[in-house]
Amino acid sequence: MCYKNEVDLQKTKILAGNPVIVITTVDEKGTNNVAAIGSYFRIGSTIILAINRESHTYKNIVKTGEFVVNLPGLKDLESIMKVSRHYSGECDEISASGLQSEDSLMVKPPTIREYPASVECRLIWTKDVETYDLVAAEMLCARCDESYIDPAGHFDQVKAGVLHIVRYPDPVYIVADHYVQGIERMDA
Ligand SMILES: Cc1cc2nc3c(=O)[nH]c(=O)nc-3n(C[C@H](O)[C@H](O)[C@H](O)COP(=O)(O)O)c2cc1C
Repeated sequence: MCYKNEVDLQKTKILAGNPVIVITTVDEKGTNNVAAIGSYFRIGSTIILAINRESHTYKNIVKTGEFVVNLPGLKDLESIMKVSRHYSGECDEISASGLQSEDSLMVKPPTIREYPASVECRLIWTKDVETYDLVAAEMLCARCDESYIDPAGHFDQVKAGVLHIVRYPDPVYIVADHYVQGIERMDA
């Protein structure tokens, strides 16, 4: 006798909930591209993202080897659907989305000025998985609006209103409103 009932693995989305990120890339002519991404994970200084191989984002990353991960907050909610639209032709998708760009520190793709934080990345490898490609990259450096750094030096996800995407493709997010303290540290 099982306490829990079996449910639909895909429909329930039990393991959903990454902070949505917006990737900026440039094409070979230097034109800016943007796309929202929710499927990724981090291990140390490596990030691995699942990106549709037909997207401009994937093609630009493979051609240039560089991208920037930009982290929107609650105030930036409307821009997420704008950056995810299909823009035809060669247009600067950052300005077409109503956002501003600023130079990055170590890579050519620009950073989104309005967003609370960004991480500059360099491609390591790609690997086919279903209709996506896994894209692994080294995270080179990070920048953050200082008002979101707490007294201990951590990025404050609650204050920034980081948006965890939980019902994709429906645009439903969770925003945390407080931290909880556990009982002991792993290294205690
Ligand atoms: C919240 C959200 C999460 C998304 N997550 C992903 C993802 O993990 N991988 C992906 O390939 N596309 C994802 N998309 C879709 C891309 O943002 C979308 O296809 C975009 O238009 C690609 O643009 P591009 O062709 O200019 O690169 C997501 C869209 C939204 C709104």
